[in-house]
Amino acid sequence: EYPRKVKIVEVGPRDGLQNEKSLVPTDVKIEFINRLSLAGHQAVEVTSFVSPKWVPQMADHAEVMTRINRIKGVSYPVLTPNLKGLQSAIAAKCEEVAIFGAASESFSQKNINCSIAESLERFQAVMDAAKKEGIRVRGYVSCVCGCPYEGSISPKAVAKVALAMYGMGCYEISLGDTIGVGTPGSMRRMLEEVLTVLPADVLAVHCHDTYGQALPNILVALQMGISVVDASVAGLGGCPYAKGASGNVATEDVVYMLNGLQIETGVDLDKLIEAGNYICRAINRPNLSKVSLAKTAC
Ligand code: HMG
Ligand code: MG
Repeated sequence: EYPRKVKIVEVGPRDGLQNEKSLVPTDVKIEFINRLSLAGHQAVEVTSFVSPKWVPQMADHAEVMTRINRIKGVSYPVLTPNLKGLQSAIAAKCEEVAIFGAASESFSQKNINCSIAESLERFQAVMDAAKKEGIRVRGYVSCVCGCPYEGSISPKAVAKVALAMYGMGCYEISLGDTIGVGTPGSMRRMLEEVLTVLPADVLAVHCHDTYGQALPNILVALQMGISVVDASVAGLGGCPYAKGASGNVATEDVVYMLNGLQIETGVDLDKLIEAGNYICRAINRPNLSKVSLAKTAC
């Protein structure tokens, strides 16, 4: 009943670092991304082509993108909220971008300064321009299990935005539990609703671990046929526009669980742990991966 293979989208360099208060040196980001590629990841989200006034940590996006070693067969998506972001991403020779919407009106306003309806119009423009360049577009829906401003979010609202973004041409929709409030119960109810409008093979889950529910939530998604999982090495991260949101589920913990389920990921756990320890040392952060702590201790 579980998928045989799972694709992990490593979001550490983007989601993991975007909330860091002190600027991480560009060379450190590049070394970090290169190590993640060498650990066997199929996809590493590199940076965000967003306004540096909104997210100063991602201001070096173009330099990071152009200086990393791109390994053949690995995709390196970047976030692009609007046409300006897309144009900069094109100039930096990006081959995949992500647009990011929300199932919550308030979160949409706080995060990208527009309503959901306005965001969909902007995304359509990004999509049209991306298509012309042959760039693949991934779509995020945030707040799928709850919003920091509105509280609970109806699964129908999630399904509506997910369908709209898929309908405009996203090849995959990543469902984000931005503040990690979901439980296996609310995750299942949300996914049941989304699965009435989209098939499991175009969906991904993006779980933050604020309440310690990320691994069980991912397990529920796998049981429901989803085979793409976003994760951040060492459990780094948080969203600057979602107060109290802690990091994503730690990639090491996801890989360990999938290994135990005999699900292929292509990721080398030891190299992944080294990449996580590298970035934690470099930015002076504790490693939040239990698997990494256990394996590093013994
Ligand atoms: P705005 O202020 O409404 O934009 O921001 P604007 O079009 O009015 O432009 C204002 C200024 O920003 C102008 O500069 C533009 O040139 C500049 P000025 O003339 O004042 O000097 N600007 C840009 N600069 C660089 N790159 C751009 C860009 N666009 C405009 N792309 C905007 C709207 C969307 C730009 C802003 O709200 C923004 O950058 N938001 C990004 C917020 C963000 O990155 N959040 C974190 C990522 S989402 C997340 O973490 C959730 C996720 O992980 C999934 C989950 O967990 O649920 C994905
Ligand atoms: Mg996130």
